Amino acid sequence: MEVGDDLLGRVKILENRFHGEISQVANDQELLRLKACYLGKQGHLAEVLRGLGQMPSEQRPLLGQEANRLKQVIDHSCRDTLKRFEDEKKQKKLAQGVVDLTLPGRSAVLGSAHPLRQTMEEVEDIFLHLGFSIFEGPDVEQDYYNFAALNISANHPARDMQDTFYIDGDFLGGHVGPPLLRTHTSPVQIHVMESHKPPIRMIAPGAVYRRDSDITHTPMFHQVEGLVVDQEVRFSDLQGIVALFLRKFFGKRGVRFRPSYFPFTEPSAEVDLACAACEGKKDKSACRLCSGTGWLEVMGCGMVHPNVLRHVKYNPEKLTGFAFGMGIERMAMLRLGIPDIRLFYENDLRFLRQF
Ligand code: DAH
Repeated sequence: MEVGDDLLGRVKILENRFHGEISQVANDQELLRLKACYLGKQGHLAEVLRGLGQMPSEQRPLLGQEANRLKQVIDHSCRDTLKRFEDEKKQKKLAQGVVDLTLPGRSAVLGSAHPLRQTMEEVEDIFLHLGFSIFEGPDVEQDYYNFAALNISANHPARDMQDTFYIDGDFLGGHVGPPLLRTHTSPVQIHVMESHKPPIRMIAPGAVYRRDSDITHTPMFHQVEGLVVDQEVRFSDLQGIVALFLRKFFGKRGVRFRPSYFPFTEPSAEVDLACAACEGKKDKSACRLCSGTGWLEVMGCGMVHPNVLRHVKYNPEKLTGFAFGMGIERMAMLRLGIPDIRLFYENDLRFLRQF
């Protein structure tokens, strides 16, 4: 018998042997091992092909073809067997009830708005319904907008009330004094009056900055400013709007206006809300929330000072207005019963998930 016939015969024998062996294979690992035995570098087929060189050249293509065919047969049946194993595994799992098709799918964890954002949006909503528009101003301000135009002159003691962060460099261009982080949202009043004709009815929510830090103060916090300017605006209009807002935000509670001082309003007032913790109790002195006064301060307000109107070239003989400003953190703390302002900024999920 010639070498060529011998090798072709061995391919046939290998094929028969392979079919016999694959029918015995029980799992993935055994299958991989079997495949390597036949098709690997040191495998049976490679060994047969090593004899190729000794064959008469006219027989070589035939052996090559046969070897390729066997390789494909082995590939296919290994793939089919693997798939059969996978199907069997799935069927087995289903039969064992490991996959409970009635279980609900995994749902994504839904986030929610931060309590400060929720509070801010609620305040905005109430004023939008009252016909106010929303404006924003820059966080980095010039002295003129934060102080001077609001009737707070260079050596005015009110500047100390709002210990200011000043910024190095004069990148706002040629204005008196260094740029600063706004200490309140009141400068937005000036921006809006400079760029709009009366009547004005606006609120300005936003971040403000002061050098202050303890359980009721953080260096950055949020305010909402309000401004109404028109002909014949009166203090009673201010009282009406503020009382309406507080009724919507806090529900039915006592409200009082207490004379106060702000440089940009005259007359000025502070607005107090009846303390919900001790209202109606005999011994108010024990109340931690209001320190026994029965009242909680919620905002500052007043009639726009004529000097402020003059700065924006409004005629104080013809126009009057009122303004108010409140701290969003404080509103949220009072409404939601939060004892420490720092909780808003710690990102502790145990706190945030309550809202
Ligand atoms: N800007 C004041 C502050 O930050 C709050 C304020 C008081 C705003 C009276 C006003 C106002 O518009 O009329 O303490």
